[in-house]
Amino acid sequence: MGNAAIKANGLIKWFGQGETKTTAVKNASFEADFGELLYIVGPSGSGKTTLLSMISGILKPNEGSVLVEGKDIWQMKSDDIADLRLHKIGFVFQDYHLFPRLTTVENVAIPLILKKMQWNEAIRVALEYLDIVGLKDRAQLPPVKLSGGEQQRVAIARAIAGQPDILIFDEPTASLDGDTGKKIVEFIKTKILNPDRCVIIVTHDNRIYEYADAIMKMEDGKITDFERNTQQDA
Ligand SMILES: Nc1ncnc2c1ncn2[C@@H]1O[C@H](COP(=O)(O)OP(=O)(O)O)[C@@H](O)[C@H]1O
Ligand SMILES: [Mg+2]
Repeated sequence: MGNAAIKANGLIKWFGQGETKTTAVKNASFEADFGELLYIVGPSGSGKTTLLSMISGILKPNEGSVLVEGKDIWQMKSDDIADLRLHKIGFVFQDYHLFPRLTTVENVAIPLILKKMQWNEAIRVALEYLDIVGLKDRAQLPPVKLSGGEQQRVAIARAIAGQPDILIFDEPTASLDGDTGKKIVEFIKTKILNPDRCVIIVTHDNRIYEYADAIMKMEDGKITDFERNTQQDA
């Protein structure tokens, strides 16, 4: 029984036109509920990132609608969408999107500062989140001095520092070694997920499937399967 954080209805997205037209997402509908950890799985090119971008207010669909906490986001003004993204949605991108001229801890502090937290307090809180992902000792370095996996953990720390209702991860464990990836998903499941929050993770990593409340499969732009684990957390 749905307490929907996100409800997608008939989403269609294409890129290009004529001979080069690619339809990345073909009529996708699904619901992600509060209190739920939803995995999206599927081969590379199946439309996962495009779908995530549409449900999080980044990429406008050609057709269909997205309700975030009951609000039709693609009917909203762009300022309101930006506001929603700041306050409700945390997104960890596949390519991290870290700011190269800021230190690692400053990168994590960004959502806190945008939400008007005092600088010193924001840095203090950001350090706690860096500690959670095991990177407190890298706080003063610029992201370029970190490895790919470390940069990804910084992006994860930044997303969870913002304390959003809806957290979306695009392949967060892809470049993490098994133990760290598992630790982070375990952390997300036990400390970040709660009845008022929804977490969506795109992953290929079947080592972390045990944590999922629901698994959605995509293939060639379509949702081919949606399975909720009703036994868990009963
Ligand atoms: N900005 C874009 N311009 C053109 N084609 C795109 C763009 N983004 C994605 N695509 C195409 O859409 C399809 C789905 O891509 P994507 O959503 O990135 O898949 P996934 O995340 O599952 O790997 C692919 O064929 C990809 O090449
Ligand atoms: Mg992708």
